Order: sequence, then C-alpha cells, then structure tokens
Amino acid sequence: MDTREFYRDTWAEVDLSCIRDNIRSFSGLLADGTEIMAVVKADGYGHGALPVALASLDAGASYLAVALLDEALSLRQQGIEAPILVLGRTRPEDAPLAAEYHISLTVFQEDWVEVASARLQGQEKVNLHLKIDTGMGRIGTREEEETKRLALRIENDPQFCLEGVFTHFATADELESDLVDKQFQRFDKSLEWVRQTGASPSLVHCGNSAASLRFPERLFNIVRIGISMYGLAPSPELKSVLPIPLKEAFSLHTRLVHVKKVQPGDTISYGAAYTAKEEEWIGTLPIGYADGWMRRYAENGHALVRGERVPFAGRICMDQCMIRLPYEMEAGELVTLIGRQGDEKIAIDDLAAQIGTINYEIPCLITGRVPRIYKK
Ligand SMILES: Cc1ncc(COP(=O)(O)O)c(C=O)c1O
Repeated sequence: MDTREFYRDTWAEVDLSCIRDNIRSFSGLLADGTEIMAVVKADGYGHGALPVALASLDAGASYLAVALLDEALSLRQQGIEAPILVLGRTRPEDAPLAAEYHISLTVFQEDWVEVASARLQGQEKVNLHLKIDTGMGRIGTREEEETKRLALRIENDPQFCLEGVFTHFATADELESDLVDKQFQRFDKSLEWVRQTGASPSLVHCGNSAASLRFPERLFNIVRIGISMYGLAPSPELKSVLPIPLKEAFSLHTRLVHVKKVQPGDTISYGAAYTAKEEEWIGTLPIGYADGWMRRYAENGHALVRGERVPFAGRICMDQCMIRLPYEMEAGELVTLIGRQGDEKIAIDDLAAQIGTINYEIPCLITGRVPRIYKK
C-alpha cells in the first residue's frame, strides 16, 4: 500500500495487480502481435492516471491514450516516457508543445494541419493519428476526398509523421447492432483511401474494450483498452459473455465517525425525510456528494459494515451521510461503499444500475478530495 498522507477517514483503494492482470488477460486474448494502448484519460477513469499508466506499461501495454493535451503533459511531467496519444482535438496552436514533449495528436481537419504546420516550423516532427468517423458521429473525416486530401497533406509535410489511422465504435457493447459491421466496412474502405495516397501508417486501431472482447482477431495492430482494464464490463449485456476474467480494481471505504441511538419518530438529515420507526442505531459517515457520493445513492442504496448490508438513513449531505446500523458499534468501524466485505459485495455495476447510469461514470465522479491509495 502507498502511505500517502491524508487526514480523513474516507479513501478509495485501487488494486494495481487487477489492472496488470486485466492487461495480461487481454494480451492472451488478442491476435498475436496486437499491441495495447491503455486508455488513462479522466485521471485513469478516476483510478489515478499515473499509477494506472505505470501498471499497464509494466503488464505489457506499449502506448497510452488520454483525451486532452493537458493530461498527456501531466503524465510527461511525472516522468512517463512511453508514447501517448491525445484522442480528442488539440488546438493547432498547441502543436509545438506536443512536439516538445513527444506527444501524438489526433487529426481530422485540413485547416488544423495548416495552422499547426505553420506553428511547428523548425521544430521536431509530430506524430499524427488520422481519425475516421465511421459512424460514431463525433470527430473524424467521413468522405473519400476529404480523407485522401488530409492524408496527402500530412504525408507531404516534413513537420508531421502519419503514424496512425483510427476509428471508434458507437455500439460495440451491444450484441445485436448492425452498426458495428458497417463501421468495420467503412473503416476498411477508409484505410484503402489512405493507402492509395501512398501513406503507410504503422498503427491502425479501432478496438475499444467491447470490440476487443468480442472481435479479438479483427483489430489490426493495436487496441485502445479503457473500461475493461479497470476490471469492468463495457455493458451489462457483455458481462454475461466475457471471454476473459475481469478484476475490478476500485473500491471505496470510510469509517463511522459518530454513532447514536435515536427514538421512534426522530428524523435524520436534510428535509427530515427519514423517520426512525423504532429505537435505532444511526452511524455517520464522512463522505458526501462533494466527494462524488451522490444523493441518489441513498435511494434504496446500501453500505457494508461487518459484512452486512445496511441502508442509508436520510439524504446524503455535501460531506457526510448516515446509515442505519443493525446494533451499536464504535466510531472507527470500517464501512465499505464499493467493494467486498466477507460474502457481501457492492459492485460499481450495482451502483450504476441503481441510479440508471453506466459503470464508467461511477469512479470518474469520485472527486479528487477522496484520496486514492494503491495496492501494488
Ligand atoms: C476514442 C476512444 N478510444 C477508446 C476508448 C476506450 O473505450 P472503453 O473504455 O470502452 O474501452 C474511448 C473511451 O471513451 C475513446 O473515446
């Protein structure tokens, strides 16, 4: 465990051995020679970008991906030397920073290349990955002429190297979607267009976690693994057909800071929305919605204490919330909000289902105020 100092009784635990095991399981699943780009954007989906980056590289990932130039620079400043791709659009004026820190950028607009090229004069080459929009409808080129002109423009510019071409699936996590096949076909065609210009990008990628789990043999030479590196299935549908075990790395814990007996009719928390029906033991936890422990988690939600599931009592406040205890306990007792105690488990997937969202959101929303500690 890390011994980073913090002074509160709430923390998230990230088991890096799970991250490493998940990367190794993907290596075993994918076609021989397929490389892994570990997606550590959004502070490693809330797990911590740097420790996850180090663990994934240690387990065999060869490339990292982030959403923003800022995230890539932060990793460089913390000593990461592995190649990093920024998946979103970077301002072309900032291309010199990418050159200086050897960060690869995503490109899909000709005017971007013009501006970036002018800014880069005399600097080192920047590696570019051309993004094709095959059906996600977010960023990327769509038409033949546009794609060819852009590829050619990059090829002919000494400031750039067209290192990669990629696309992103919109529905790879749905078992019955026609769009995935259409996107594969459009991507094949787009690659032909790029190659017809004489360009020969060394990295071609389309696989996210879902596509990598479902079509491990069809994914060119590198895949971008995010959610499943953290041990989570890309969708409830895929959870029942996983070809490899996924180990959930994130758990969330706190401790009782106060315990009291209340009488029938006493109310708890804002709005007095909870009324004790009998003599009850109520425990207070030092975590609230400002930590990303959202108010809706109290609606039919549970925490684990001494291996038992216990309900929340009343509304979650900004920094604290209350649970109903089965009997008297001491302040200091461990309470698990995500993770396992004995035979009971509260999974990230359970919380996502409870509040009607996807598992991706749950750890991302646990704010920086909650210290992360790392199990090596
Ligand atoms: C472009 C791109 N590639 C890869 C990923 C990783 O996807 P997943 O977390 O589903 O593996 C994402 C995630 O949002 C993405 O936006």
